[in-house]
Amino acid sequence: MKVLVVGGGGREHALCWKLKRSPSVTEVICAPGNPGIAREARCLNVGAEDIEGLMKLALQERPDLVVIGPEVPLVLGLGNQLREEGFPVFGPDKAAANLEGSKSFSKRLMYEAGVPTARFEVHVDVEEAVETIRSWGAPIVVKASGLAAGKGVIVAQSEKEAIDAVRDMLAGNSFGDAGSQVVIEECLVGEEASCLFIVSGDTIIPLASSQDHKALLDGDQGPNTGGMGAYSPAPCVTPEVEATVLETIARPIVAALKKRGAEFIGILYAGVMLTDDGAKTLEFNVRFGDPECQPLMRRLKSDLGEVLLAAANRKLDGVSLEWEEGTALCVVVTSDGDPASFEKGQVIGGLDAVEAAGAAVFHAGTAEKDGAIVNAGGRVLGVTAVAGSVKEAQATDYAALEKLEWPGGFYRKVIGYRAVAREKR
Ligand code: AMP
Ligand code: GLY
Repeated sequence: MKVLVVGGGGREHALCWKLKRSPSVTEVICAPGNPGIAREARCLNVGAEDIEGLMKLALQERPDLVVIGPEVPLVLGLGNQLREEGFPVFGPDKAAANLEGSKSFSKRLMYEAGVPTARFEVHVDVEEAVETIRSWGAPIVVKASGLAAGKGVIVAQSEKEAIDAVRDMLAGNSFGDAGSQVVIEECLVGEEASCLFIVSGDTIIPLASSQDHKALLDGDQGPNTGGMGAYSPAPCVTPEVEATVLETIARPIVAALKKRGAEFIGILYAGVMLTDDGAKTLEFNVRFGDPECQPLMRRLKSDLGEVLLAAANRKLDGVSLEWEEGTALCVVVTSDGDPASFEKGQVIGGLDAVEAAGAAVFHAGTAEKDGAIVNAGGRVLGVTAVAGSVKEAQATDYAALEKLEWPGGFYRKVIGYRAVAREKR
């Protein structure tokens, strides 16, 4: 079959890489793709948020399956339009994508469905929000309700920090429209994990567990980013935790959506905090996590095309997934200075040497200029190695990264430190 992948980041590179290696897939095309994806797929120059352009493209190319990578086209209703034209689509319709598109909707639905999550309030008025912050005290969490590319969450250590964040969001200075409603949450404490599920109607299959590193700097310091690295499996997700997240979080939220007439087909991503009080939901996403998708695709043994098509066609029941033993660990390389400022167009060398040293390189914000790969965005590369243990995967990955020739690149030096410590114990 011919598969169209929508998107052009590290997640989509990993998906295209895996789809190209799927026996059921004869051709992979990608819109818009990137120079790394071009090694796996025919890239077509239509942006992932250009819904009209993507519809035209689908009607011309007639793929047998469309896989939608990022959240924005899902929230804009690309899934609905493609399904109306009869395409099998992996990715939810707009109504179900709202679970990610609106944190206020998502939190209310969690409460309605009895899904464990932090106490919260939704505010549009600055003074009322400030009153809540003063009465709850710090630490406290402030979130822009709308989509903010993983950056709209402030875990405030002081009331002042929280109040400044609320004022900034509601004044429309940061996150624009996405910040016109804020969610204020109780601060949860514990270890975080990403629990992803393939969902097709009532059938829900857990993917291997993973853990992301959202903070910019080592020791989980600095502001939250879209993700600085990830590994799979996450040892903190024991079989008991996995079962709890499936039964108390994934099933009830999918059922609550269905009750509202929103059937879910795609990836349900539950970001969970493993607190002393059990697993609590931090957020839902409606797509593969990035970077989590990169180590996951390196570990998946099953035919990805076949699995996603089965989900798209509501035939997921009875499908099971097979994974490589061991650990896959991904380090994200960003443009140094991101998110504040950095120069684009810096030449990145040594990519073949990184791969020769045993790691896979997935591209995100890269471009091609005069035959060279250059940086074109904040998050630029994901470098993933697979090995028997977290420690070995970490060692292989960082040794491979030594071969990278890019002085303007930045990456965290100890992705996976929690799992390594756990392995030692
Ligand atoms: P979200 O996009 O909602 O997952 O938030 C991004 C990150 O902020 C999460 O991965 C957590 O590290 C942190 N976070 C979000 N909500 C909370 C909370 N209620 N308590 C503590 N940390 C949180
Ligand atoms: N890695 C976090 C996310 O994809 O939202």
